[in-house]
Amino acid sequence: MRRMVAEHRLHPADLILPAFVREGIGEPVPIGAMPGVVQHTRDTLRKAAVEAVAAGVAGIMLFGVPLDEKKDAAGTAGTDPDGILQQAIRDVRDEVGDDLVIMSDLCLDEYTDHGHCGVLDSEGRVDNDATLERYAEMAQVQADAGVHVVGPSGMMDGQVGVIRDALDQTGHEDVSILAYTAKYSSAFYGPFREAVGSSLQGDRKTYQQDPGNLRESLRELALDLDEGADMVMVKPALPYLDVLAKIADAVDVPVAAYQISGEYAMIEAAAEKGWIDRDKAIMEALTGIKRAGANMILTYWATEVARAL
Ligand code: PBG
Repeated sequence: MRRMVAEHRLHPADLILPAFVREGIGEPVPIGAMPGVVQHTRDTLRKAAVEAVAAGVAGIMLFGVPLDEKKDAAGTAGTDPDGILQQAIRDVRDEVGDDLVIMSDLCLDEYTDHGHCGVLDSEGRVDNDATLERYAEMAQVQADAGVHVVGPSGMMDGQVGVIRDALDQTGHEDVSILAYTAKYSSAFYGPFREAVGSSLQGDRKTYQQDPGNLRESLRELALDLDEGADMVMVKPALPYLDVLAKIADAVDVPVAAYQISGEYAMIEAAAEKGWIDRDKAIMEALTGIKRAGANMILTYWATEVARAL
């Protein structure tokens, strides 16, 4: 009876798998703060993509981790046509074709030596407009590599518009934009820093949203839609379900939520201590995110959950 009257249920096609691929490693490297998640080699990433397809997962969101010595102030490796993310996009596209929606993180923090999402001005502040020029170049190389959807996650003002123009001008009208619309400055990104080997100096409070603000996310939403976002995202998920619900009510485009590294780590850590029923907690958290209004959920458990479903 509960099954019959359920108002919301998860489906494998709701799920998107975020995956890390690291340059120059022979074996996958486990991420300490995210038990069960690894930095993939190019080969194991291909396998993970095949497994995701077999489980019915809808998409994969790729993050590149370059060699340390390739990180610089401008994040040059992010726009190298042979940079690790571009290679990974080509690999996955070659392996699974169009059976999986291939998405890529469009942001500089994986490639900068200071760890910020943009380039800095002479006083060490993130330079919004100079960063936009870098994002336009990133959009082009990622699209050239064969990505279906770019995911600008840097929270720079005007990023969606600049990326749309860059894509259109380079013959990539078909590439969609999943805008990280309401991305909060969050303590829950902690484990991600290890996942991408980032040593952030300072914080992201000058460009990511303050946790106390809800109305501000509606302003970001209006801007992103106006600039051409095809889909919008709320991130993190669980502490921001009210934001997710409000945005889902307000739009007629698909809405995504990102269950981030810290949300993953909390459940895994508590389960490891025997303090929580891991599998039930995962399903409950994901169902809650769906109930709040997400059409798509990015989760590190995507393949496992899709199989269970
Ligand atoms: C930025 C980016 C971050 C995450 C996804 N894209 C980190 C940040 O903004 O600080 C976090 C994802 C996670 O924590 O799982 N490139």
